[in-house]
This record gives sequence, structure tokens and C-alpha cells, in this order.
Amino acid sequence: MENRDLIKLFDSIRKNKGLIKVPQSLQKNKILYDVIRSYQLDCFERASNEFLNFESNSDKIEKDIFFKNSCKLLRIFFPDSIFYYYKRNEETGGYELFFSEVQNNEIITSIEEALVEGILELVSSSQEIRSFENIYYLEKKTYLTPFPLILNNEKIGIFIAICEKKASINIDILFIFERLMQILATNINAIQLNDQLTKKKNTLSLFIDVTENISYIKTIDENIKGIILALQKAINCNLTGIILVDKNGQLFFKYVSKDLYNYIIKHKWSFGKDIFSECIEKNISFNITDMHKSRLYSKTFTIVSDQLKSFLVYPLKAVNFVGCFFAGRLINEPSLGHEEYDIVMTMIKNLSIFLNNIALYDEIKINYELTTAALASAIEAKDPYTKGHSQRVMRYSLLIGKNFGLNESALRTIRLAAMLHDIGKIGIPEAIILKRGPLNEYEYKIMKKHPYIGYTIIKNIKYLSAGFPFVLYHHEKLNGSGYPFGLKSEKIPLFARIAAVADSFDALTSDRPYRKGLSFADAILEMQKYSGIYFDKQLVDILIKTLKS
Ligand SMILES: [Fe+2]
Repeated sequence: MENRDLIKLFDSIRKNKGLIKVPQSLQKNKILYDVIRSYQLDCFERASNEFLNFESNSDKIEKDIFFKNSCKLLRIFFPDSIFYYYKRNEETGGYELFFSEVQNNEIITSIEEALVEGILELVSSSQEIRSFENIYYLEKKTYLTPFPLILNNEKIGIFIAICEKKASINIDILFIFERLMQILATNINAIQLNDQLTKKKNTLSLFIDVTENISYIKTIDENIKGIILALQKAINCNLTGIILVDKNGQLFFKYVSKDLYNYIIKHKWSFGKDIFSECIEKNISFNITDMHKSRLYSKTFTIVSDQLKSFLVYPLKAVNFVGCFFAGRLINEPSLGHEEYDIVMTMIKNLSIFLNNIALYDEIKINYELTTAALASAIEAKDPYTKGHSQRVMRYSLLIGKNFGLNESALRTIRLAAMLHDIGKIGIPEAIILKRGPLNEYEYKIMKKHPYIGYTIIKNIKYLSAGFPFVLYHHEKLNGSGYPFGLKSEKIPLFARIAAVADSFDALTSDRPYRKGLSFADAILEMQKYSGIYFDKQLVDILIKTLKS
């Protein structure tokens, strides 16, 4: 071959993106032939890369664009064909439609029949591209040709070409075709990895959401439900439930989604020999892909209808609780797999950590309350006449607070603050505290310092911070005649207005060394007399109404 012809050949290869027939005669010169082949491949790869427009580094892969362009590339070899891509499911070994150029249900049904019958599998089982055959399968003289995609010796999917004419591969460019399949396989694998990564990212952000949404202000039930709902979303499964049993074996919490409940037949949640008991007692999980074939069928199906197919049961262990989470999918849905199992595992661990924290939190709360009680007893040791006063003020304040509609957290603050509201008295001289008669002006002036002294004693105790107003302002009066600041009406915080009502009512009804306490009826009259002047009218009314009932 002359140099001029050779240049023409190279030029033609470039223009045709490698897809031309190389003259047989050139095969005699092996070196030249190899150079031409390698140039053909380069030209083709360059063209392919432009076509596929695929950047594996990009965060978001335009899957559809990739597949559409892959089909265009394949059409260079198979003009007039349309393509379907089936992804191999690693777990089941079957194929799932992942991309179709045209949505033709008739064709899809035919392809899937062929896949089920194993015809395509048979043809495409060899990794040799040369083994491809055209299969006259569909009616109306339509041909179906499979292209297996192999990556690291594993089949990851099949491109299927549908055309009316019998397609054939030009032997001369088979090596290019082999390369094309490699490129597609690598890129499809990257797409799938990217999909998995995106899913993992979504799951991760869900975990973060859940963790951030856990709140110690909400009830345990609300928190558990929040976690379960997030978990449902993460595994895309509405049929879920959870059972939690406390230390004494008592059912503490149970939740079964409404959808799952429809598939459960008369189950009383007594822990007999069922799958849940086995999971909890032995601390083992079950991930049953087909319950109908499982040895646990009889155990589980006493409670579950035939509609359920896959069922996952995962144990939970925390300091004060044991239990299990379960999820199911129906016959017509994909089974719960490894991915869902991993998510459930992580989320249930999260839930255990939350439950353990709750246990710790409760313990801390108890310690706080014991510390507060110890502080409170210091006042009573000094002032025996007021023995029981703090406890009673706490009871009255809680009655008012509850009926006023305060939440659990506010009531807890009142409980602690009421116990300590007179703690400042330990800073007042005993001669004044223990005086068996009314105080003179000077003594009263000293006595009036006790709310502020009390505040200075507790001001560095963080867990009491919400209760500071209760202690500091419990002797303030609406008309500004109270102490230590002479605050008026709305300037007095709610906790302090509650404290004033409770404290005054108990002072009126208690015996003093120099006078006898009033009866409840007389004390009520006295409170009503100053209602709206000293005391918040609404709060006085609440106390009186509650005491009368
Ligand atoms: Fe006081």
C-alpha cells in the first residue's frame, strides 16, 4: 500500500470514528495492522467519550443522557434498533428494567418472558462477544439481540436491541465493539455506585435529622414514634412496628403501622413462642425474604396473613428496655434486602442510645431532686416553725400550675423552686428567724432580704435557672407593695405570681408562735379580699376552685 493510500485510510478512520473496514491485505504486515487497529480504537473511544458526556467525578450523573447516548452509539452498529437496558439484581440473579428508549409494553413483556425462560441468559452467558446471535423471538419479524455487559468477570446487565432487520456485527470492528461494551459497563457501574452513594447520603442526612429531632422536652413515646417514622421513610416501607418491654417484662411501648395492622390477625401481643419473643430473648435478628418458605412460617403466620412475603425483625437492647423492630413487604413488592437491614440496624442502635440517654437523664433528674431536697432541709433545720411550709407551697403551686395548663417541664421547675423558695432564710440571723412575736421595723427590713439571699445561693445552679423568678420574686405584690423590688403586675413573672398565691395561702393557714392559723374558709376569704390587688386574680380563682373540688 502506498503512503498516499495509507494517509487516506487514516483520514477515513478518523472521519468515521474508527468504524470502517480495514483492507484484508494489510493483515500481512502485522506491525502496521496493529497500529491501524490501535488508531481505530483511539478514534472510537474519543467519539464515545464525547457521546457519553460522562464525568465520573461529577456529583450528579445525568443517567438518562448517558443511556440515550449509549443507545446512539450502539445504533452505529445496529441502525434501526431501539434499546432496552436490564440491570442484573445481585441478590436474586434476575434482571430488572433500568432504562428503556421507548416504553413499549408489548416489547417489554416479550423481553421479560425471554429473560424468565432463560433464552437471553443462555445466549449471553458466554463472555465472548462472538457468541452473540440474533434471536427471532418477537412476532412481526422482530429480532432481539442481547449484549451482555461484563465488569470484573461479572455480568452487571444486558443491553437488548430490538429491530426488524436481522442485525449483524461487522467482524472487522468486533474489537471496537468489545471496547464499547467495556466502556458502557464501567460507566454503568459508576452510575450504580453513584446511586448507592446518593441513597447512603440521603439515609445519613435522615439519621442526622432524627438525631437532631430527638428532644428531651418531648415524651419518650413521641421520640420513638419520630424515629420509627424516619426509619419507615429510609427503608421505604409502611408496614412496620416496634415492641418495647421494660425491666419487669411489662409491655412499655408498642406501635404497629396501620397498614401492617391490616395484615395481622388477632394478635394479643402476649409473648409466647413467636418470632418476636425469639428475637428479643435470643437477641437475634431475622431477615426472611420469603416467609412462606421459612421455618418460622408457622410461628409468624399465626399472626400474619398470606399477603406478607418478606419480613425483617431486629432486636433492641437498652439499659431499661428490650424489644424488637419489625418491617414487612407484600408479595408484589421487592423483598427487604441487605440495604434495608443495614439501615434498620443503624437506626435501632440510635434508638437504643436514645433510650440509654433517657435512663441516664432520669438518673440525673433524681440526683438533682435529691440535692434540692437536701438544700431545702437546711432551711427547716434552722427554722422549725416553717417545717413543712416549703412542701405545702410546692403542693399548692403545682395545683395552680397544673390547672393553669403548664407543661411537664414547667411543673418540674416549680417543684424544685418551691422547695427552695425560702432558702435565703439561712442568711437571716437566728434571733429574727426564731423570734416568738411580730417583727419590728428593723427586723422586718432584714427579713425582707431573704428572697434575694436565696437567689444568690442558687444563682449558679444551672438546672434551677428557670426557677430563679420563683425564689427571687415570691414576695412581690401586684400593686407594687411587695419586696424586695416592689415590682408591679405584669412585671412579676408567672412563676412568682404562682409562688405568691401559694406562699400567702400557706402562711395564712399555718400556726405561728404568736398567732393561730386561719381555717381554709377564712383564708379563702382573705385571699379573695386581696385578689387583683396583691394576687393574680386568675391564679387565686384556680387555687380556690381546686381546693373546693
Ligand atoms: Fe418567703
